[in-house]
Amino acid sequence: MQYMITSKAQLNDGFAMPRFGLGTFLSDAGQATQDAVSWALAAGYRHIDTARIYGNERDVGWAVRESGIPRSDIFITTKVWNDDQGYDSTLRACEASLKRLRMDYVDLYLIHWPVAGRRSETWKALVRLKQSGEVRSIGVSNYMIRHLEELLSETDIVPAVNQFELSPFLQRKKLVAYCRERGILVESYSTLGRGQKLTDVRLAAIGRKYGKTPAQVALRWALQSDIAVIPKSVHKERILENAAIFDFDIAPDDMRAMAELDEDYSVIPAAWDPETSDQWA
Ligand SMILES: NC(=O)c1ccc[n+]([C@@H]2O[C@H](COP(=O)([O-])OP(=O)(O)OC[C@H]3O[C@@H](n4cnc5c(N)ncnc54)[C@H](OP(=O)(O)O)[C@@H]3O)[C@@H](O)[C@H]2O)c1
Repeated sequence: MQYMITSKAQLNDGFAMPRFGLGTFLSDAGQATQDAVSWALAAGYRHIDTARIYGNERDVGWAVRESGIPRSDIFITTKVWNDDQGYDSTLRACEASLKRLRMDYVDLYLIHWPVAGRRSETWKALVRLKQSGEVRSIGVSNYMIRHLEELLSETDIVPAVNQFELSPFLQRKKLVAYCRERGILVESYSTLGRGQKLTDVRLAAIGRKYGKTPAQVALRWALQSDIAVIPKSVHKERILENAAIFDFDIAPDDMRAMAELDEDYSVIPAAWDPETSDQWA
């Protein structure tokens, strides 16, 4: 059996990131996020993914402090939002995030989306934040191959992570291979297809073989594909369900069957599609 809930992936900058964490998009500010993060930490999660735009950084920071778990044992990701992109504005945005989190560093700071005309300056600010220690690792999100090619032609610092939508129904095999060849860790979001694909009968059939739910099969599939996952839930029973994936292996023939589930299914509206929308030209 490979991996435990705390298993880490080595990043290209010497730091390491737990392969499994809690997502918090659409996790309401206040009690909902405080409870979700508290339940997750109590269940053994050691990686929390937030963002300025989610509006819940304060609650994430509160739950981390309340847990009594040393800060150094928890991996925190936050992200610079689109309207904060640019050099100086990114430096300010990071400072504001740290203030809301009440932390003196974050483990991973990501460019949330590859905003046209601004992303290059934003990356320079991330490099500066890494040098000054406010952030340990820096990375990108929603970067497709063309965005990565542009970035790598402009910098010596290769992003540690690329976080993008990926699930059994949207496998992005070329982008995954591109990242892997360059030492960029792939982190999947919407691995559960935001719950929209959990009724798929093929996923359910594989789950039955192992006594696991479709959500657990989707998450385990990603881990076994060397992809980090951050499933979101604000319900305790689902937070526990999503973490109960470290006591089984999907057999190679089922992994091969799952490779066939890829159907380019995305939960992102077309206007935000990182492959095609003009916003990210
Ligand atoms: N970088 C980016 O641009 C970006 C974009 C999207 C997401 N993300 C990050 O990635 C995280 C995960 O992605 P996501 O939130 O889009 O989608 P997701 O994790 O695929 O799915 C979350 C949805 O599925 C439901 N759910 C969770 N566990 C379930 C289970 N075991 N059975 C049935 N339903 C379940 C949740 O509902 P309940 O909460 O009601 O349980 C929620 O509606 C986000 O929270 C965020 O941190 C990043």
